[in-house]
Amino acid sequence: MFRITQYMKTLLEPSPVGPARKPPGPVVIWNLIRRCNLTCKHCYSISADIDFKGELSTEEVFTVMDDLKGFRVPVLILSGGEPLLRPDIFEISKRAKDMGFYVGLSSNGTLITEENIDQIAEVGYDYVGVSIDGLKATHDVFRQRKGAFEESMHGIQLCRERGIKVGIRTTLTQDNAKELPELLNLMDEYDIDKFYLSHLNYAGRGNRNRKRDAFHQMTRDALDLIFDRCWNELKQGIHREYVTGNNDADGPFLMQWAERNVPDQVDALRQRLQNWGGNSSGVNISNIDNLGNVHPDTFWWDYTLGNVREKPFSEIWSNPQDDLMKGFRQTPRPVHGRCGSCKHLAICGGNTRVRAYQLTGDPWAEDPACYLSNEEIGVDSHEDDRLEMPNQYPNQRFSDPFPMKKSSEKSRENNEITRSKSKDEAIQYVNI
Ligand SMILES: C[S@@+](CC[C@H](N)C(=O)[O-])C[C@H]1O[C@@H](n2cnc3c(N)ncnc32)[C@H](O)[C@@H]1O
Ligand code: SF4
Repeated sequence: MFRITQYMKTLLEPSPVGPARKPPGPVVIWNLIRRCNLTCKHCYSISADIDFKGELSTEEVFTVMDDLKGFRVPVLILSGGEPLLRPDIFEISKRAKDMGFYVGLSSNGTLITEENIDQIAEVGYDYVGVSIDGLKATHDVFRQRKGAFEESMHGIQLCRERGIKVGIRTTLTQDNAKELPELLNLMDEYDIDKFYLSHLNYAGRGNRNRKRDAFHQMTRDALDLIFDRCWNELKQGIHREYVTGNNDADGPFLMQWAERNVPDQVDALRQRLQNWGGNSSGVNISNIDNLGNVHPDTFWWDYTLGNVREKPFSEIWSNPQDDLMKGFRQTPRPVHGRCGSCKHLAICGGNTRVRAYQLTGDPWAEDPACYLSNEEIGVDSHEDDRLEMPNQYPNQRFSDPFPMKKSSEKSRENNEITRSKSKDEAIQYVNI
């Protein structure tokens, strides 16, 4: 998670740069259910409107929660599939709140209705994130359901009427990049507190459809638009939150923006960004899926570290024996290619490893979705047509780990690689 507003505030109102502070335990993004009423084209969890067997029971969820609390996990993001399809979602959410977790609900918003809004309000979620992936026509096609946009916006409106902090989350693709200005305007129209631009990750159906990933230049334009908007709002005293996720090149890109707009603050910003350190998979971000499998983050479902039915999360997370986790926890990470030579490595941390892995089979290869030019990252190369290229390489490896036609559970089995601070400090890693 890259918190644009937080950094921009420091550019507007400079303050001393403190030391890097790490949260006491990882943020847990918890896919409590895989069933979903939508079948979005990018969905990493390959959700669909069917029952998935073997999901954690309420009691099992509670047992895991106790372990997470003891392990000083500060934040739980309750996700899915569609978490509102879980009959015990409010019971789980209330318990989590009572235990003192920061609790976020990650929803497609279509099931937030007059019937359940009182229960949602009663939980007291710290944040509800609703996915909106384009204007009406684009969103409905992308999420494969006519009427989804209107249902989700209605859900957002109900949340706002109850004073619930709600944000729009948009995954940027070639299909919706043009609509970004109007999507941002929805924030004014609906009085929305937060905008989260999510870069496409190559996992699940998002891997199968990765050819629709935004071109590098589109991504740059999107970021510039958000930076300018955030800056202008801050100058007018409007305090909305703009955040991004899944592409840590956003850090150096903000620094370049600051070089043009507030050059005297660039050194302080660089220091702050280095304290943040970029990608946090396997370190400050973790994931538990619907079956209790633990992963380095939500996009590594074909890489399992252990299962909470067999071992507490705290143990699985504390003693990973595998090379991938060792690499995640190494500073700097053992990345190569242009990431390994990049002058911004200390800021972005080598960006998103799952994309490198899906394209090349090597989790430490360069991230294909880094949209900075060779010149910008200090790599000497005569060939620099990168910005005009999609985030794909010729002759790319194409793995389709979870084909839709097969039973999803079976396909999961087939594809198991199984090679086997405070809440505030943790919020910076919250990926919703
Ligand atoms: C898996 S969904 C679950 C919650 C809910 N069903 C929803 O759609 O918001 C969680 C978030 O991940 C995003 N997401 C899913 N697949 C993704 C991918 N391949 N890359 C980036 N974001 C993705 C969704 O758009 C959504 O904002
Ligand atoms: S992204 Fe969310 S709404 Fe879409 S299919 Fe996946 S779980 Fe369902």
